[in-house]
Amino acid sequence: MVDLHRQYVRLKPELDEAIQQVIDSCAFINGPQVKTFASHLADYLQVPYVIPCGNGTDALQIALMALELQPGDEVILPAFTYIAAVEAVALLGLTPVLVDVDPDTFNIDVEKIEAAISKRTKAIVAVHLFGQSCDMEPIMALAKGYHLFVVEDNAQSLGAEYTFTDGRVHKTGTIGHIGTTSFFPSKPLACYGDGGAVMTSDEGLAKRIRMIANHGQERKYYHQRMGLNSRLDTLQAAILEVKLRYLDQFTEARQLVAQRYDEALSVCEDLILPKRSVYSTHVYHQYTVRVKAEKRNALQQHLKEQGVPSMIYYPVPVQEQEAYRNVSRVIGSLEQATRLTQTVLSLPIHTEMSEEQQQYIIEALTWIKK
Ligand SMILES: Cc1ncc(COP(=O)(O)O)c(C=O)c1O
Repeated sequence: MVDLHRQYVRLKPELDEAIQQVIDSCAFINGPQVKTFASHLADYLQVPYVIPCGNGTDALQIALMALELQPGDEVILPAFTYIAAVEAVALLGLTPVLVDVDPDTFNIDVEKIEAAISKRTKAIVAVHLFGQSCDMEPIMALAKGYHLFVVEDNAQSLGAEYTFTDGRVHKTGTIGHIGTTSFFPSKPLACYGDGGAVMTSDEGLAKRIRMIANHGQERKYYHQRMGLNSRLDTLQAAILEVKLRYLDQFTEARQLVAQRYDEALSVCEDLILPKRSVYSTHVYHQYTVRVKAEKRNALQQHLKEQGVPSMIYYPVPVQEQEAYRNVSRVIGSLEQATRLTQTVLSLPIHTEMSEEQQQYIIEALTWIKK
């Protein structure tokens, strides 16, 4: 699905030097590269505070802990998503409230959020799925009206931009009260192991987030609140510092692949191609098509036989996950979320894909016309 090796080979001299510097210094934990990277990511995102942490799942848990929600409080989430945000909510004794998604954008259906708000609702987690922003303006307006927090799970869409109706443009992850991201190796900005970060414009929240990620302490051995041990290690920060310089180039490379898929696959009547919303750019973490339910698995099998990888992100909606079906509150039928699990197929897309490789994939895909 991604070609990490070719990307490494392309950036090898810079990456090797950055890695070697960390090894030479032996400052493996909290070395200077961690602070430098956090500050450069903050500049890139135009957000005052970026707090690195161990991974994107920790980032979500830390964000929710910083909001000081109480057990039984409700958090609104999309029913079609990666599980991390739901998991963090449930682990903290909060109740996940699942809302259906818009099948065209795969993101939470903004029209359905208000019906999910109860007296116990405290927050909305907006997951920017597959590379495109949720519709943040109405989400922020609802949150303001009902005094809710908004956490943006930006693990898949770092670098995407949301345009408000007055023309203001903000990077995803910087619009809500707190944003989180993951630097998992296949993510838009990716390290060579686990990594994550939390971002906010609120100084008080930033202070809490920093403490929570560091055992709830500001001063060593004086623990003011419960926390975690969640750190971005120096080697990963050094790698991310190099890759951050290329983030926009990486995005453009994936956008070009997406454009070629769009052009070549528009003739396939049995495929619904990913839609671009008017309010967001798309960084194409995934290029996800929808295939008629009865043909999806056969297409995937055919691709496999041709040596073309593809993935079903995600095969089960949250309300049907064994661990969460009895702890979640469900709003409406969630039929779009369920339908997406039966129809989605994500195709290979990455920064190193050649035209020949893509042509091969496209030819394998056009089997669907038969
Ligand atoms: C939307 C989303 N949120 C959170 C995560 C969790 O990130 P991590 O794997 O770094 O814990 C991921 C990815 O894996 C993700 O795709």
